[in-house]
Amino acid sequence: MIVIKSVDVTKAKRIVVTSALPYVNGVKHLGNLTGSILPADVFHRFLDLFNVENIYICGTDEHGTPSEVSAMKEGMDVKAYCDKYHEIQKSIYKKWNIDFTHFGRTSTKENEEITQDLFLRMYKNGYILEKEMTIPYCNHDKMYLPDRFIEGTCPYCGYEHAKGDQCEKCGHLLDPEELINPHCTICGGTDIVFKKKKHLFLDFSKLQGRLEEWIKSNDHWPSNTRNFALGWMKSGLRPRCITRNLNWGIHVPLKGYEDLVFYVWFDAPIGYISITKEWCKSDDELEKWWNSDSLIYHFLGKDNIPFHTIFWPGMLMAAGKYTLPYYVAGYEYLNWNGGKFSTSLGNGLFTDEALELFPADYWRFYLVSILPETKDSNFSWDDFKKKINGELLGNYGNLFYRIVYFIKSKFGGIVPDAELGDDERKFMEAFENRLDELVKSVSNVRLRESLRIVMSMARDLNQYFQERKPWASDDESSKRTLYFSVNVMRMITQLLRPFVPSISDRAMKMLNAEGVEWKKFTEFTIRPGHKISNVEHLLEPISQDEIERAKKYRSKYSKSDDKKKRGGSMEIPFEEFSKLDLRVGKVISVEDHPNAERLYLVTVDFGSEKRRLVAGLKKYYSKDELLGKKIIVVMNLEQKEIRGIKSEGMLLAADDGETVSLLTVDRDVELGSKIR
Ligand code: 2FM
Ligand code: ZN
Repeated sequence: MIVIKSVDVTKAKRIVVTSALPYVNGVKHLGNLTGSILPADVFHRFLDLFNVENIYICGTDEHGTPSEVSAMKEGMDVKAYCDKYHEIQKSIYKKWNIDFTHFGRTSTKENEEITQDLFLRMYKNGYILEKEMTIPYCNHDKMYLPDRFIEGTCPYCGYEHAKGDQCEKCGHLLDPEELINPHCTICGGTDIVFKKKKHLFLDFSKLQGRLEEWIKSNDHWPSNTRNFALGWMKSGLRPRCITRNLNWGIHVPLKGYEDLVFYVWFDAPIGYISITKEWCKSDDELEKWWNSDSLIYHFLGKDNIPFHTIFWPGMLMAAGKYTLPYYVAGYEYLNWNGGKFSTSLGNGLFTDEALELFPADYWRFYLVSILPETKDSNFSWDDFKKKINGELLGNYGNLFYRIVYFIKSKFGGIVPDAELGDDERKFMEAFENRLDELVKSVSNVRLRESLRIVMSMARDLNQYFQERKPWASDDESSKRTLYFSVNVMRMITQLLRPFVPSISDRAMKMLNAEGVEWKKFTEFTIRPGHKISNVEHLLEPISQDEIERAKKYRSKYSKSDDKKKRGGSMEIPFEEFSKLDLRVGKVISVEDHPNAERLYLVTVDFGSEKRRLVAGLKKYYSKDELLGKKIIVVMNLEQKEIRGIKSEGMLLAADDGETVSLLTVDRDVELGSKIR
């Protein structure tokens, strides 16, 4: 992130850290955690280390139809459903070592009170309008369809699965009525009527000038967030509907509107305040955190940027109460082995499953090292292994072991007394410069860089240790090396704690040392005569077998029907199969589909004719890999138009859910040969 103005976070008086409140319905995938909860946790833990008074607030976002529908599917009452999944999510984050000050929820009394109070303030201040709205109603399900339960084609970019409130592809906010060819996502039907209903709107157009000025003044924000927000403001703000026709939610405290509840996005950010209130209990304490000189830091994924940079601050401005956000860290997407994470498709790995495969700290270390701070980043199993074995273990774990091992074997586990020399003084000078860099990078919320800096400190210590060879040097020299190294190791171990808290805690225990206050951080607190408690390896390397096993892991949340995929159990008569005209053809050209990111236009030569196929292979094959390949094509399928282009056949490929592999011939048969 390019930060224009620098701040020193260690000088902050008080900070509230929040991460986007995950929807209660269902366990979240790794992408979700990486784009909000994990970086917020690392940041919060650094603030703790720097002795900055701070709290980390998060919780489940519980209102809205997704909860109602998911509860319905599980045959549960919506409240009981939320209770269940709130606890499930909470317990998973605990296993991830997420150090929330409080992990609350939005369906509490506190949230109801604060939401209603803020609404009434907006109303009194003249920001609330009444308008008639047309609401989609599914005649089949006999219910009003909230925005995310109606899908259709985006009128701006043509994406076919745009939701009623936003197109995930181009990011445009939408009204359900704008969708082309809408359908209900609950029953899949198109029997949708739009009914007229009275609703309340927050008039954001009145806030345009103030918001724009405020966003511009935030020149310490990361450039992706700030530019996104400024770009958004250019198209002009309109009043936004803040109410819905549902039962599950916070009711509007205004005469004539009691049957309406607030839109989930209205009460969700207010959750940050109400969860704080639930934790601190008293109004005075709440004032201290939310109505004073506290700095509010929000961490969230890219799709939540407009809500946190425009709508949420706009709500606070309209209500005239509570502190505006100070910093909005908006993360880009984490991709899963080159593809998109998706809860609905079950693509990727989920937060509970990841921990069945590897310890939380391995994940934390790797995910921070690829944090999508400025652009999308990609998870890969091979890179995961490389970073854990090469960096966390190779650069830190092994050195830690060697230091304590030599203290044990040479000096019976007692830290030796020694005079430090020029090498050590020079080392500490460089180390302190790195510490300054670290404070800067944390202050600028560049946590990938922060991790790199800490690892470079470990690399420097490795080099020092290697050069001084305590295993081969005289007693005096090895005393000096070990006394020095164990102290610097304590510092590095403490600096690693925000990233890998369990490993760091275990290491501190082995050192039999306490964490040191930030002011005295570089003091040599492990004194001569101090006894190391035990010598063990801090962490195990990841084996290739484990990686292979992980690669084969199938998410239990995957919605793809394995049976269907594996060839199915449905029998078809032999004559039916023989009707298929399958032939061998050679790929002679590959182009990008002009209207679809994932598709190629593949021209195939069958000897006597050429055909053009539309194929979803981009994720799996480069153009060069495809060129010249002999493939098998179904020639006599009814022709289908895919994103505006006719496919004159279908190529055959094996798909195990992760990889796609084209069917081909293993001898040089003539083009156009029939498959029998
Ligand atoms: O996108 C989401 O997962 C939302 N539940 C985030 C809400 S953030 C905040 F405003 F509460
Ligand atoms: Zn329906």
